[in-house]
Amino acid sequence: MNERLITHLRHVDLAVPDYDKQLEFYTTMWGLEPETSEDGIAFLAAAGSPEQYSVRLRRAQEKRLDLIAFGAATPDDVDALAERLLADSVQLVTRPDRLQTPGGGYGFRFFDNDGRTVEVSTGVAARRHRRVEEGESVPVKLSHVVLNSPNPEATVDFYRKHLSFALSDTLRHPAMGEMMWFLRTNRIHHSIAIARGPHVALHHASFEMRGIDEYMRGTGRLLRGGVEKVWGPGRHMAGNNTFSYFLDPHGNTVEYTTELECLDEDSWHPHIYDFSDPTVTDQWGTANPMEEFVARKSFNDPDRGCFVAPPV
Ligand SMILES: [Fe+2]
Repeated sequence: MNERLITHLRHVDLAVPDYDKQLEFYTTMWGLEPETSEDGIAFLAAAGSPEQYSVRLRRAQEKRLDLIAFGAATPDDVDALAERLLADSVQLVTRPDRLQTPGGGYGFRFFDNDGRTVEVSTGVAARRHRRVEEGESVPVKLSHVVLNSPNPEATVDFYRKHLSFALSDTLRHPAMGEMMWFLRTNRIHHSIAIARGPHVALHHASFEMRGIDEYMRGTGRLLRGGVEKVWGPGRHMAGNNTFSYFLDPHGNTVEYTTELECLDEDSWHPHIYDFSDPTVTDQWGTANPMEEFVARKSFNDPDRGCFVAPPV
């Protein structure tokens, strides 16, 4: 396998028609901080994260996933990854260059096999962040992003082959076959996962809370606020993390999670879990049952951004 050049997940960027409503939801209800705002672009930071932003919102006519962004350790690593992708005939959107987004840095963009825009960067200035205090139910950081793909096996292969992600676990349904693949780029059980879906779309973006108490307080705030809950609260087997899934105003699924497993990579052996086993989907037994209706909620709308680079 190629050397791993991606260090971690940085942010997820969303374009939406009702920008004001979306901004209101992610700041007031979800608990992110608008760090920098220009006209029609908002950079939303998580209180406990050194990342300049964990979510970027952009006002646009059509809803889409603009990009997902990863970090690399050095400019040499960014260049090496771009060279590797070019050699493998992956379509670059931009060549490595200075970034114009908050914190600066050096990076480039490319399309993955499904046409999503992916950014890899390094040297972005750290944001002045803080320790999230006991009882404070705001995201500490972006935890992971899950992507729907109609060709999930090819997408898993893409991220393993070209970006050196490693498979941590797989969910398999006895009738439907393999449904979800958890991929890591560091010791965290998954920074991304690929889900079998009817079309390319964002499945969900997940945010790490300080601990169980803060995760439950956040879940309660959303429930009381009348935000549509998709699934949870519960605790998954794969990754051993807790989950509460809600819909944002544009129908993107967002998750509060905590205690996502950190692996010993040298000794880890991937599992194939039976997705029809209720203790696999929820070890606690507190979540609503996983059934087709729940699964459909996270299919999301077909992404309008496939093989179309975002304008910024
Ligand atoms: Fe998740």
